Amino acid sequence: MRNVVISGGGTGIGCAVARRFVESGHRVIIMGRRAAALEHTAEELNRTRRSDDARVVPVVGDASDPMVLDRLTSALDSLAESGVDVLVNNAGGVVPGPDSSVDEVVTNWIETFRSNVLTGVVLVEGLGPRMRRPGGRILNLSSIAAFRGGGGAYSAAKSAVVGWTFDLAARLGTEGITVNVVVPGYIEDTEFFGDRMTPERRARLIGQTLDGKAGRPEDVAAAVFFLASTEAAHITGQVVHVNGGAVFGR
Ligand SMILES: NC(=O)c1ccc[n+]([C@@H]2O[C@H](COP(=O)([O-])OP(=O)(O)OC[C@H]3O[C@@H](n4cnc5c(N)ncnc54)[C@H](OP(=O)(O)O)[C@@H]3O)[C@@H](O)[C@H]2O)c1
Repeated sequence: MRNVVISGGGTGIGCAVARRFVESGHRVIIMGRRAAALEHTAEELNRTRRSDDARVVPVVGDASDPMVLDRLTSALDSLAESGVDVLVNNAGGVVPGPDSSVDEVVTNWIETFRSNVLTGVVLVEGLGPRMRRPGGRILNLSSIAAFRGGGGAYSAAKSAVVGWTFDLAARLGTEGITVNVVVPGYIEDTEFFGDRMTPERRARLIGQTLDGKAGRPEDVAAAVFFLASTEAAHITGQVVHVNGGAVFGR
């Protein structure tokens, strides 16, 4: 049984990752800013858990704010063991905002990097001392946008996640912690697109895949779950694409 911390675990891909781990008998902390989304997910997943010890604990907070670390460490201390075996830096997304002046553009870039990059940095720096050595696993979520552009600040921030993953993998390799980056393409049934999806856009995104399908949160969760396994001990510093072939992995 392992302790798994997932940022953005209340919805979409993070929720599917949480389900995969709790169904396999692990203890899972899901964190995010909206209490209602986290509590709803925790309640639903705890109904399907297979043992009393395997459970989902919600922690409300902004992962880019170091203040959240106290709440996370208290939640970890309440578990049977207080270390972190797996950290999934999944929080992020497009940050909508006005862009009609330089000041507005700068604000949006800062907020986009805060949401997609600093969320991971705070959790890695804050929870790093509790990570299992050897055997710890860090999974960062990037995006297909990092490899083919799109979304301005978003694609830049998701590229930064890739470079940061390589840096962390080099830093933590000899301590027995692997660090990999999972790169989703178009994934349905998440809150990612909000009201920005249209039938035409959906058809275009699916048309870019080689298998003619939209991805599902479970597809990404399966990749995360494997990379977090003990079998994946010799896989670190790698980029794993989950996009139906919409861009070729390199
Ligand atoms: N869906 C796709 O097609 C797709 C494609 C490529 C990459 N991705 C990436 O996959 C990851 C998961 O996204 P998703 O598709 O599952 O979308 P989602 O349903 O919108 O999930 C994003 C989650 O991140 C949380 N979050 C955002 N900012 C946060 C912060 N500062 N602190 C804590 N939690 C935060 C959100 O919860 P709160 O709002 O409650 O904080 C939400 O639960 C993201 O990094 C996204 O960029 C998604």
